[in-house]
Amino acid sequence: MSARVFVPADSGALSVGAEQVARAILAEAEQRREPVTLVRNGSRGLYWLEPMVEVETRAGRIAYGPVRAEDVPDLFAAGFLSGHSHRLGHGLTDHIPYLAGQERLTFARVGLSEPLNLADYCEQGGFVGLRRALEMPPDALIREVTDSGLRGRGGAGFPTGVKWSTVGKAVAATKYVVCNADEGDSGTFSDRMLMEGDPYCLIEGMIIAARAVGAQEGYIYSRSEYPHAFAILASAIQRAREAGYLGPDILGTGQAFDLEVRLGAGAYICGEETSMLESLEGRRGLVRFKPPLPAISGLFGQPTVINNVMSLASVPVILAKGSAFYRDYGVGRSQGTLPFQLAGNIRHGGLVEKAFGLTLNELLYDYGGGSASGRPIRAVQVGGPLGAYLPESRFDVPLDYEAYSRIDAMIGHGGIVAFDDRVDMAKMARYAMEFCAIESCGKCTPCRIGSQRGVEIIDRIVAGRERSKNLILLDSLCDTMVNGSLCALGGMAPYPVRSALQHFPADFGIDTSGIAERERTETVPSRRI
Ligand SMILES: Cc1cc2nc3c(=O)[nH]c(=O)nc-3n(C[C@H](O)[C@H](O)[C@H](O)COP(=O)(O)O)c2cc1C
Ligand code: SF4
Repeated sequence: MSARVFVPADSGALSVGAEQVARAILAEAEQRREPVTLVRNGSRGLYWLEPMVEVETRAGRIAYGPVRAEDVPDLFAAGFLSGHSHRLGHGLTDHIPYLAGQERLTFARVGLSEPLNLADYCEQGGFVGLRRALEMPPDALIREVTDSGLRGRGGAGFPTGVKWSTVGKAVAATKYVVCNADEGDSGTFSDRMLMEGDPYCLIEGMIIAARAVGAQEGYIYSRSEYPHAFAILASAIQRAREAGYLGPDILGTGQAFDLEVRLGAGAYICGEETSMLESLEGRRGLVRFKPPLPAISGLFGQPTVINNVMSLASVPVILAKGSAFYRDYGVGRSQGTLPFQLAGNIRHGGLVEKAFGLTLNELLYDYGGGSASGRPIRAVQVGGPLGAYLPESRFDVPLDYEAYSRIDAMIGHGGIVAFDDRVDMAKMARYAMEFCAIESCGKCTPCRIGSQRGVEIIDRIVAGRERSKNLILLDSLCDTMVNGSLCALGGMAPYPVRSALQHFPADFGIDTSGIAERERTETVPSRRI
């Protein structure tokens, strides 16, 4: 009997040699005349073990990793095709604590089978949510999503059902659903992993959104750095169309909806929704004034639902299992799960989907295994390049939108980047301003000019030139950027700067010896933003 062997074709796995491993397995199997069926699955998200090879056995799938092409003959010799032990073995994949402790709703299927295999998708619960949605009136469908408590996973955390309701009520001949798959935040990869590992899940979520608001056309906007995701999505859309899930008459219901995937050149600002619309329409990614909201006048001036990949990919399970099932996960007004992404100086980097409410301590140590360098973790940036830098004293704050807002931080898209005790936080603060200056679309002065001045002021503070005066100036500049910027790029760049100053003043040359913590946070500019 042919052994089923899984080698991920996810870009993360490919970047560390999965393709060579797959070829080596086929070559070795042929030479040994041992029949092997090779399945190119998505990644299970245990990135420190990639390329992670799995073998199907009667007891379940057994994992080996990280496997290099040179390890393959040895694995065959050890009898890995029958799941025998080897120094690279980790036992049953589902029992690896990193996976076993997760609550995978959105990522339930990722890594289990070939991403483009439509039959596998259906067998694993795919399109159950869509079939239910097609039987529901749009109002009831929107209510189901509202009741689930789902909030936008792209950063702002806006309730998805409320957004859909606005588009649903708008009167227009043409409406659109646009998926924001730009994924520009540092340390984030959940959108890419899902698009590469379970593309039909996103497509299903978009069809449901279209049904809810009455849209006929949809776009997935991604970036040129995601060529694999693009190719897989384009192929999945084609297959879904051929199978009747997309097109003029979805599953014979008379509902029409079709989809296209588009690539931007990879500018951070093109992830901002109005800038993305400009780019989709063929212009430079420049932020639009609001109002009107895209829900009223979005793509080509028509009512448009814009949602992040994770928001849309959460919808099928909500429809399949019901809103009550989904909102049972999480805490307070942060309901459901979030696929957190562990990156930076972390031993076990990867994807951890958990209900809201766990802490950074759990993510960094129980899952992440501490820093990769073995040194103490000193700071963590949560929520991308505009997120606050958090010190160890904040690692026990529950990850929920409101609790994070109370500490002037944000969860954003769930990216978590760890730094050890060698990090220079003044450099990181400077980098936040520099990043804003580089990525600014240039439309408004506080961001375009303010970020450049911010870099210069931080340089003067660090050099000890008129430090007190420059600290006051920096605080005032941050206020101007927060209150006067047109979008959150300029409006939130002060978050990492102020948090670095507040929690790590010594890195800026500020002497706080003998000052109690409470006084210190008042000495250094740290107004709420
Ligand atoms: C500078 C900037 C970059 C952004 N980048 C992204 C992005 O890469 N992906 C994303 O989904 N949202 C991004 N957003 C948020 C979007 O503007 C928008 O809120 C989101 O796509 C709405 O979807 P959601 O409600 O499902 O979160 C960005 C916002 C700003 C200000
Ligand atoms: S804040 Fe920056 S990125 Fe946003 S509109 Fe203004 S200049 Fe453009």
